[in-house]
Amino acid sequence: MSPAAAVLEKAEAADLAAAREMDRYAIVKSHLYTSGEIDHTQPQPRDDAKGRLRLMGHDPRLPKMPEKPTLIDFFKLRFGPCVHMLQSARLAQKNGCSEKIVLACLLHDVGNNGFIRADHGYWGAQLVEPYVDEEVTFAIRYHQALRFFPDEKYGYVYPESYARMFGRDFDPGKHIHRAHEYAKKHKYYEAARLLTVNDLYAFDPNVHVELEEFTDVIGRNFRQPEEGLGFDDSPTAHMWRTINWPTRYL
Ligand SMILES: [Fe+2]
Ligand SMILES: [Fe+2]
Repeated sequence: MSPAAAVLEKAEAADLAAAREMDRYAIVKSHLYTSGEIDHTQPQPRDDAKGRLRLMGHDPRLPKMPEKPTLIDFFKLRFGPCVHMLQSARLAQKNGCSEKIVLACLLHDVGNNGFIRADHGYWGAQLVEPYVDEEVTFAIRYHQALRFFPDEKYGYVYPESYARMFGRDFDPGKHIHRAHEYAKKHKYYEAARLLTVNDLYAFDPNVHVELEEFTDVIGRNFRQPEEGLGFDDSPTAHMWRTINWPTRYL
């Protein structure tokens, strides 16, 4: 058998194994994933899961994570391509920001890139909170609010793309106004503001950034747990496990 044919045969065998795994399991999505498409307050037709196990671990449709996953594994095997976060981190570096701000930029949209889109700043901050400096967490949490408010001192203007995406008269709501007021008086305001300044509001198709450029920044500023993210009993370990195994039945 030629090497190419051997590779093909191996790929087909892997596909077949994945298909068999799929047949073994009834894979159910969390309500949150389908809320809106489905009105869960109404009775739903029952899935026919007869003879199949409920999935309680790895989803065979996804690349398998290592036993002790690192932040970089999550970037590569679970998050989206993350071009926007990588470009923002590169911009922060170019602008001479501290490593903490570079890391905050690199992680600032993990909420919508890998977990939950709505309230992404809050989810993202919570995810990384046990592993980074509080200044990084603050910046990620409050960029959610600060991006809606201009700050001349830092040269931050309301993004034109937001006006296009959300409408010219969009108001983010009272809780976001309150968060902005709170952040303005906080000792880490500058960190959160610098994040919004380096947060790229227009994706540049010509700038290619590799995650590896930030291996050292991550190594110095992200406390990677020895047991692997999700298995370290931190207050947010369960959130990382859910990203690892998003379709576990319970
Ligand atoms: Fe964001
Ligand atoms: Fe962003």
